[in-house]
Amino acid sequence: MSSISADEIKVLSQYIYAISGVALDASKAYLLETRFKHLLGKYGCSSYMDLYSKAKADRGGDMEKEIVDAITTNETLFFRDASPFEVFKHKILPDLIDARSKAFPGRSVPLRIWSAACSTGQEVYSIAIALREALGNLGGFQISILGTDISDDAVSKASYGKYNKFEIERGLPMPVLHKYFTPAGDGWRIKDELRAMATFKKFNLMKPFVGLGKFDVVFCRNVAIYFTPADKKMVFEKIAGVLEADGALIIGSTESLTGVTAAFEPKRYLRSIFYQPQSGDRPMPVVPSAFGRPAPATAVSRPASPPPPKPGLPAPRPIPPVTPARPAPPRVVREETVASSPAVSSTAPVPASPAFEPAPSVETAPVHPAQHVQASRPDAARPAPRVMARPVSATSHVGDKSALKRLLVKKKQEAKG
Ligand SMILES: C[S@@+](CC[C@H](N)C(=O)[O-])C[C@H]1O[C@@H](n2cnc3c(N)ncnc32)[C@H](O)[C@@H]1O
Repeated sequence: MSSISADEIKVLSQYIYAISGVALDASKAYLLETRFKHLLGKYGCSSYMDLYSKAKADRGGDMEKEIVDAITTNETLFFRDASPFEVFKHKILPDLIDARSKAFPGRSVPLRIWSAACSTGQEVYSIAIALREALGNLGGFQISILGTDISDDAVSKASYGKYNKFEIERGLPMPVLHKYFTPAGDGWRIKDELRAMATFKKFNLMKPFVGLGKFDVVFCRNVAIYFTPADKKMVFEKIAGVLEADGALIIGSTESLTGVTAAFEPKRYLRSIFYQPQSGDRPMPVVPSAFGRPAPATAVSRPASPPPPKPGLPAPRPIPPVTPARPAPPRVVREETVASSPAVSSTAPVPASPAFEPAPSVETAPVHPAQHVQASRPDAARPAPRVMARPVSATSHVGDKSALKRLLVKKKQEAKG
């Protein structure tokens, strides 16, 4: 392999930053070499500078796409870090349903969720599964999950929803696998009813957030780590602009917004932290007219041929399966605003609980700002199948004592009364 020169690193890093916002420095020489090696061969380039020149001259933009696909790190897994999905199910969701069912009495509860750098889709399907586990068959809800990513390859795979054995073993408990996936060739494919909850779209977080509409929950995890401090601030402030006033942002377990932006207030729930738009800046919470909120972006339907696995990445460690769902804690606990500190903390995350583990007992001790915890390849893209959610009576789940179920029953009774 020809080795990359200091000048080539500089030029390519600037180009990559311009097209993706991913900030690389001279220490990433090996990464550039390994990730772009196959492109040198494919495009008959004599050097990395030649690759850059050809990419700049490629009017169709195919080379740019391939460079983005090659340089982005799509590492992900089902129920990554586990605790964000616990806080989502046991705190964020019940609060939102409570607020939305008051705002839309007697009507289906609208919920829009955005996985803002969804990679190959595991985050989106983890959200969909968490919703199904928490809410039953979703009758009475209008749920949409938008998955976006800058990488064409990642979005195509996410849209297709097929995963190999290794990917499945990373984070999916066996009972969950059998409930929500069907065997497909050498792997498993997400069932249509779950796939129908999501739409996927290519989207660069560096670009203006136009036409996205408003969201109730945004997952923006493990992507801002690749951005400069100024770009991080810009991206999170744009996210604040598309979040409902009472919406929630979930970031990566090693990430923090302390010292990044004042647009969000950290909130603690159990061992996790999530963020809400700063109340001073908050617009009024969602009102019934929000039924006119823009529909989610259209699903990706373009077939894609799978790219090769990325070189230069360590082999991810398989995550053992975890225990299946148990009822949620009996009530939603008081949330606490976390005092913000000007310094960005480097504190290690609190160990996460596995997906579907029972939520731990209620903690009320104040959180230190330094605790920043929240907590392969497809065949073709597929459009969201049309699957109608069958209405279900919340009371039909006899014996289910979860806080969420009780909340739903109460809402139904209030609506009837
Ligand atoms: C490490 S993955 C994180 C996936 C998932 N959110 C998770 O936490 O498991 C980071 C993803 O961010 C995407 N990405 C990088 N730069 C981006 C940008 N400017 N806009 C949108 N997505 C971007 C990459 O393509 C990659 O799929």
